[in-house]
Amino acid sequence: MAGFGGIASQVYGLFTRNSRAANSVIDYAAPGPGDRVLDVGCGAGSAVAYSAQRVGAADVFAIDPSPTFVRMVRRRVPEADVRVAGAEDVPFDEGSFTLIWSIASMHHWDDRDRGLSALVRTLAPGGRLVIAERALKRPGHGITADQSEAVMASLRKIGQTGVHAVDRRAGRWHMTLIESARPLTPATGHALAL
Ligand SMILES: C[S@@+](CC[C@H](N)C(=O)[O-])C[C@H]1O[C@@H](n2cnc3c(N)ncnc32)[C@H](O)[C@@H]1O
Repeated sequence: MAGFGGIASQVYGLFTRNSRAANSVIDYAAPGPGDRVLDVGCGAGSAVAYSAQRVGAADVFAIDPSPTFVRMVRRRVPEADVRVAGAEDVPFDEGSFTLIWSIASMHHWDDRDRGLSALVRTLAPGGRLVIAERALKRPGHGITADQSEAVMASLRKIGQTGVHAVDRRAGRWHMTLIESARPLTPATGHALAL
């Protein structure tokens, strides 16, 4: 899994503990009371802490393949349920969440389409998925316009509705946010590739 090692996690965590970019994505996603949320690739936990203030920590869940990040976030928000896992093997039941986001993480995943399918499966009917990546002109640590189109095509293929992209200034970054929702009634003929 293309994750962060222990030392890389410690160093990255120092610089991103209070990420304006992550918080700006949460402002856009706007979790509120009654939501049950999942942060995929939570890193040092900026979005976990910020969203816990909005929905209550007991309704905040997070995964990251780096045990160092998971330890950090468990210390930071002890009431949140934070687990060592990747997007491709998300360890929660079908329909568990009303809102899932992933911030600056998808470009690290080993298998993007498998990750998207696994996340969509854990969305409740009507639940929203927000994938946020730094907007790039060339492939790298973020997403280009072509890659964004490919992600949106994958989401439509697995039955997501309302698939669209939004540009957003987030801290010092320009981000692309790809938003979609799980249909209220399950579509037929779309196999989730799990
Ligand atoms: C650039 S950091 C972003 C962290 C955090 N979301 C933020 O905005 O500060 C990328 C994160 O993705 C995680 N990651 C790597 N592979 C992953 C995978 N397959 N599934 C989920 N997260 C993954 C890394 O461990 C790391 O925490």
